Amino acid sequence: MPSTSTRPKTACLVTFGCQMNKADSERMAGALCHLGYRIVEETDSADLVLFNTCTIRDNAEQKVYSYLGQQVRRKRRNPEITLVLAGCVAQQEGERLLRRVPELDLVMGPQHVNRLADLLERVAEGEQVVATEPIEIFEDITKPRRDSAVTAWVNIIYGCNEGCTYCIVPSVRGREQSRTPEAICQEIWQLGEQGYKEVTLLGQNIDAYGRDIGTNLAALLRSIHSAPGIERIRFATSHPRYFSDELIATCAELPKVCEHFHIPFQSGDNEVLRRMARGYTHQSYRAIIDKIREQMPDAAISADLIVGFPGESEEQFLGTLDLVEAIGFDALNTAAYSPRPGTAAARWSGQLDDDTKQDRLQRVNRLVAAVAQSRSQRYLGRKEQVLIEQASPRDPEQVVGRTRTNRLVYCKGAIDALRGQLVDVRIDEARAFSLSGQLV
Ligand code: SAH
Ligand code: SF4
Ligand code: F3S
Repeated sequence: MPSTSTRPKTACLVTFGCQMNKADSERMAGALCHLGYRIVEETDSADLVLFNTCTIRDNAEQKVYSYLGQQVRRKRRNPEITLVLAGCVAQQEGERLLRRVPELDLVMGPQHVNRLADLLERVAEGEQVVATEPIEIFEDITKPRRDSAVTAWVNIIYGCNEGCTYCIVPSVRGREQSRTPEAICQEIWQLGEQGYKEVTLLGQNIDAYGRDIGTNLAALLRSIHSAPGIERIRFATSHPRYFSDELIATCAELPKVCEHFHIPFQSGDNEVLRRMARGYTHQSYRAIIDKIREQMPDAAISADLIVGFPGESEEQFLGTLDLVEAIGFDALNTAAYSPRPGTAAARWSGQLDDDTKQDRLQRVNRLVAAVAQSRSQRYLGRKEQVLIEQASPRDPEQVVGRTRTNRLVYCKGAIDALRGQLVDVRIDEARAFSLSGQLV
């Protein structure tokens, strides 16, 4: 497709879903820059539009189709634009998507992120490409184009080997593949050299890291801990089944590892947990949190939970409320159960009606806000170490950063002087999910 103008081509990436997808988008944006594209925010003028999609619940999937529809109409007027559908919906639907949306140039699953340049080359040759076959993910040779200059995501394990009966992730992300400690260290040392202060290690089951290559997360934390310039290390998402005593002790011992742990529990009822195939009880979950708090008393705990799983009784739901209150979570992602294609639980009887699910969701959300609000109070009057990330989106005179425990903190200041700085902030206002204070 010859172009008469010499202006660089533009690409817009729209990302849905979890941190894994955001990290994948940064790598794909890096590859696009490498190919000479300029990354823009506006979909409606871009020469290439890439949707990196999520299918964790039905509403996430439907959102993708409505965004896509608009670009399909644009492509009918202007066939020169390139339309890419990446991520978990792409993997789930594969070839079917081309029949449904023939305007798509490229459909690519999450395992193919690092191959974007090759796939686009085939598109340029006139092919309509579907890349969803399982592959061994190879190391990325292009540099990600990261959204932040302060804090960076680093994938350490791809895929998921669990079989939670509600969840689509294993079928769209494939089997677990750990990156080697050498590749991870190389990336983190480079980040330190570039001025990054914080890394968040990413994986669907991060604490299962290394079991396919004979190592584990605790050992990895030790080996990355000496990276010059990196002041803070985080990791997500943890699975209660793999959150070992060794891991807790290592986190407590290593000063750069932040005292925030995201450990989804999904339900507070043992029978529901069994039918979810989660592999732990609410008692063993509580025991993990107790151990964390014994060794790191101020640790922040966040999690995910699902209400309205097939067959969940009112009493079983109350078990979840009980756990929310007993643990005192700092933050929680809550969701109503959504049946997903190909998963076991979607075929079971005992599916609850939407009204019941929404009612439980509202009730749990009220409790979550109240619990988070009371957890926030402990910061009042305290001096907290905050890593400043960016200007406040609401007030240009303010900057925003995070505590080690991952609470957002707003304070007055100039971003150009403060970006990437670790500062002390005296907290004088505590809301449920954020704090405000004064620079000390
Ligand atoms: N690997 C992580 C989380 C992955 S998905 C873990 O095991 O905890 C992120 C969250 O989406 C899950 O924790 C769960 O709370 C939610 N989720 C997954 N499948 C869902 C479904 N079918 N309906 C509603 N929520 C779901
Ligand atoms: Fe899904 Fe379970 Fe894997 Fe998490 S551990 S991604 S909930 S299957
Ligand atoms: Fe969504 Fe895929 Fe993440 S389904 S939650 S983007 S792994």
